[in-house]
Amino acid sequence: MEFYQALKKRRTVREFQDKDVPEAAVRRALAAGLRAPCNAHLKSWQFILLSDRERKSRAMSEGLRARDMKDRGEIERFVAQFDDEELKKVYRRSLPLQLTMMLQARQVLVVCYKMKPLAECRTLFELNPLASAWMCIENIMLALAVEGLFGCTYTPYQAKGLKEFLGVPAAYEIAAVIPFGFPKDPPAENEVEDLDARLHVDGWK
Ligand SMILES: Cc1cc2nc3c(=O)[nH]c(=O)nc-3n(C[C@H](O)[C@H](O)[C@H](O)COP(=O)(O)O)c2cc1C
Repeated sequence: MEFYQALKKRRTVREFQDKDVPEAAVRRALAAGLRAPCNAHLKSWQFILLSDRERKSRAMSEGLRARDMKDRGEIERFVAQFDDEELKKVYRRSLPLQLTMMLQARQVLVVCYKMKPLAECRTLFELNPLASAWMCIENIMLALAVEGLFGCTYTPYQAKGLKEFLGVPAAYEIAAVIPFGFPKDPPAENEVEDLDARLHVDGWK
C-alpha cells in the first residue's frame, strides 16, 4: 500500500471483531515501530503483548483499572471542562468504551520506554524518550492499518498498577496501552485538515 493511503486509512478504532489477529502481521507492525527515529539512538522500547483473554482481562481491570464511563450525568460533567464541541463528541463516544475495548480486542499491546522519573526532569528536552516512544507508536499504528488492523492509543493517567501487574522494571514507563484487532465496522478515512491555517513560512504570521 502506498504511504499516503496508509495515512488516510489509519483511524482510532474502539470496537473489534472476535477474530484472530495474524501473528506475522503483528510482528511486521512491531518491526516497523522499531524503525522509528529516537533520541540519542537509544530505542529503549519494549513491547508486552497481552493475548490470553483471562490474563488480559485481569491486567486491564485489576492492573490498569480501566473502566467504562456509562452514566450520562458523569459524562456530561466530565466534558463540561472542554469548550470544543468536536472534543466533547469524541469523549461522549469513547468514555463508555474504555474497558470494553480492552476486553473486546483480541490483543492489547503495551508499549514501554525507559525514562528517568518525571520529578527529576527540569526541561522539555528531557522528555525526549517519551517523544521517541510516540514516533515508534505511530509507525506501529500505520503498519497495523496496512495489515487491516486498527486500535486505540490509550494513555493511562496512572500506570503504577499495570506496571506492577505486568512486572515492568522500575526504570521503564508505559507510553500507551493499545487494544487492537480487526474493526467491527470499517473505519471512515481520516479527514483532511486545513494545512494553510497552520502553515507559517519564515515566522509565525
Ligand atoms: C497521545 C494520545 C492519547 C490518547 N488517549 C486516548 C485514550 O486514553 N482513550 C481513547 O479512547 N482514545 C485515546 N486517544 C485516541 C484519540 O481520541 C484519537 O486519536 C483522536 O480522536 C483522533 O482520531 P483518529 O485517531 O481516528 O484520527 C489518544 C490519542 C493520542 C495520540
